[in-house]
Amino acid sequence: MNNDIVLQMRHISKSFPGVIALDNVDFQLRKGEVHILLGENGAGKSTLVKILSGAYQKTSGDIFFHSTKTEINDPKHAQNLGIGIIYQELNLVSQLSAGENIFLGREPANNLGVIDYKKLFGEAQKLIDDLKVDIDARRLVKDLGVAQQQMVEVAKALSLNAQILIMDEPTSALTDQEIKELFASIRRLKDKGVSIIYISHRLEELFEIGDRVTVLRDGKYVGTHDIQDVTKSDLISMMVNRELKEQFPKQTFKIGDEILRLEGVSNQHLHEINFSLHRGEILGIAGLLGSGRTELARAIFGYDNIRNGNIFINGKNEIITSPKKAIKLGIGYLTEDRKSQGLVLNLSVRENICLPNLDNWSKLGVVSSKKENEATQKYISELHIKTPGMHQKTILLSGGNQQKVVMSKWLCSHADILIFDEPTRGIDVGSKVEIYQLMNKLIAEGAAIIMISSELPELLGMSDRILVMHQGKISGDFPIEEANQEKILHCALGV
Ligand SMILES: Nc1ncnc2c1ncn2[C@@H]1O[C@H](COP(=O)(O)OP(=O)(O)OP(=O)(O)O)[C@@H](O)[C@H]1O
Ligand SMILES: [Mg+2]
Repeated sequence: MNNDIVLQMRHISKSFPGVIALDNVDFQLRKGEVHILLGENGAGKSTLVKILSGAYQKTSGDIFFHSTKTEINDPKHAQNLGIGIIYQELNLVSQLSAGENIFLGREPANNLGVIDYKKLFGEAQKLIDDLKVDIDARRLVKDLGVAQQQMVEVAKALSLNAQILIMDEPTSALTDQEIKELFASIRRLKDKGVSIIYISHRLEELFEIGDRVTVLRDGKYVGTHDIQDVTKSDLISMMVNRELKEQFPKQTFKIGDEILRLEGVSNQHLHEINFSLHRGEILGIAGLLGSGRTELARAIFGYDNIRNGNIFINGKNEIITSPKKAIKLGIGYLTEDRKSQGLVLNLSVRENICLPNLDNWSKLGVVSSKKENEATQKYISELHIKTPGMHQKTILLSGGNQQKVVMSKWLCSHADILIFDEPTRGIDVGSKVEIYQLMNKLIAEGAAIIMISSELPELLGMSDRILVMHQGKISGDFPIEEANQEKILHCALGV
């Protein structure tokens, strides 16, 4: 039985200045299994797999491949050992094509050493087509959506013929259909004997794809189980050390005055959008990827111009030409892509949270650092942002904790129209509830929220009303009492 163990990590510890990310963790991987790694934001999941991929060096502990003790020196070495990884934050070169990214650093060349692009794009296209996704290998990565970029990462990892494939939250940006396709690829890989380490916060999918699960908490090993031996609530109590209240703590408030109205808003992505939003309301927006949800947010926030129609804020017709103007009008936008639009990764937690608020706090140009400190401290504790301090660079936080920083930034901007695009992507179960409670608090104070989400349970659990988008149009509009999963899917598919 022992010979089907491909990898063992024993007593692994890893410290960073001020942080013990891993403390004596054990992990074992069998041939052809999907092994789930589970834990709250900052538990140490990404750190553990980065040690395997050669991105980080362990502080102590031993790693065995097929019972042979091995030191993993660097990413190239890990690759040679047959370890492939798809990171949580996408790592593609946006100025290059999908195909060039897949073969980056190992481009097929002719006898003269010149890159054979015909071969490169041909092989890349084959890998992409194998995943059954519709991406042209010659397209630049920057012109692809987040989900498509993720699929390019998957194709790239698969192309390396990895024996151990690590996926760090691969589905957080994928649609249900794409997740199905990814799972089909994972099953094919399993059949070939590839072992997969799979990280995700979506508990439902663990039961669909996982064979075993290992739980980490605060950098410590909690336990390993066969998936069929545990329930969802077993896993939650292994992960979360505090008691978890309701999953969707929806509170209903009195719906107040109209704060935002769109009349016939159109541009190249949107057709005749009409709706109004009131204080005290959470308006959910459902729709498949590419249905125009994010484009709608971008139009309201002034990233994209509108061609026709009008936007009214507090009853006044406003022309929103830039995000700056939008912020002035009290609009906040938490983007779906935190890396490119939400955060300045090289700045500290405090600087990121306070960035849009300098106007609020500076009197005669002097920034009140006391107020900044207080606000930052407040969000660090309310949202349980795991950081050794407010001056830590955000690039050093775990993915989920970076997302919480983005959230704080807009919460403390005192905007009263808040657009949240996939607000809980990559956020663990416990922190999700805290974010929902903050939403309640915001609307109790008279703000209004537009929540774009691909997670139907979240939309159904937290919205007062749900709009569904399809091909840039609103294809459904339901008060929450009348909404259900089936109706929303019908409208989202345009049937
Ligand atoms: N390079 C680094 N420097 C300093 N601290 C780090 C570094 N990398 C990770 N950490 C810290 O180590 C801890 C574990 O982080 P890790 O990214 O492994 O968490 P995670 O379990 O993947 O969380 P998430 O679900 O949010 O992605 C966190 O407190 C994080 O801030
Ligand atoms: Mg992580």
